[in-house]
Amino acid sequence: MNIKYVISKILKKLQIPSVHKSILHTTTRLGSRTEISQSRLGKYTYIGSDCQIIHAELGNFCSIADNCIIGGASHPLNWVSTSPVFHKGKNILRKNFSEHDFNVYKKTVIGHDVWIGSNSLIKSGVSIGSGSVIGMGSVVTKDIGEYEIWAGNPAKLIRKRFDEETISILLKSEWWKEDEKTLSTKAVYFNETQKFVEETTKSYEDRTSLFK
Ligand SMILES: CC(C)(COP(=O)(O)OP(=O)(O)OC[C@H]1O[C@@H](n2cnc3c(N)ncnc32)[C@H](O)[C@@H]1OP(=O)(O)O)[C@@H](O)C(=O)NCCC(=O)NCCS
Repeated sequence: MNIKYVISKILKKLQIPSVHKSILHTTTRLGSRTEISQSRLGKYTYIGSDCQIIHAELGNFCSIADNCIIGGASHPLNWVSTSPVFHKGKNILRKNFSEHDFNVYKKTVIGHDVWIGSNSLIKSGVSIGSGSVIGMGSVVTKDIGEYEIWAGNPAKLIRKRFDEETISILLKSEWWKEDEKTLSTKAVYFNETQKFVEETTKSYEDRTSLFK
């Protein structure tokens, strides 16, 4: 293996992520220089390098590519000034001319199994449904439904990933909450969505299902 490549990889790994007042599942992974603050990340969720996740909740099995910003601070839009020196709380300028109440952080909620493409920005307070996909370089300003693919600036709906019936069975299955053993059994059909849906439906109807 190329020694320069190995050294550059090691150096990148040394640029460790920072985590502040957050709860991360033991299986989550963070890329170099990523910052996580006041957030919660579910199991098998990974965040790429150079991301900022602020005041957000991410479910299980989310894949967040490099250079994404999810959530963040907001400034007052209809006050005399947008500057943080006119409301309560610490700010980078270390000055408060007045102590008005202002909610700087709105929680951003990302469901389970969400894939966010590289260089995407997700506005604070937005919610993104389980199973959805955000295209690379998107700016998401609105709530996004389950199993929808959105992309662009501002992001628009491209299409849904599956038909309504499939989506409803996938959502009802809540496979992302299964324990490791059950998931290993079900994962055999993860590259055949229709088969997975059939077996899941059979298991509800109490017929012979490979998932029993
Ligand atoms: C969103 C995405 C998953 C869609 O993939 P796809 O189903 O193969 O989409 P297509 O290429 O068929 O494009 C469908 C339409 O969406 C548009 N589109 C796709 N991705 C887009 C993006 N990121 N921004 C804006 N428009 C996009 C296409 O131009 C096309 O528009 P048209 O119908 O007007 O011609 C993919 O384009 C993407 O962005 N993947 C993320 C890649 C990434 O970030 N990888 C690194 C981290 S893992």
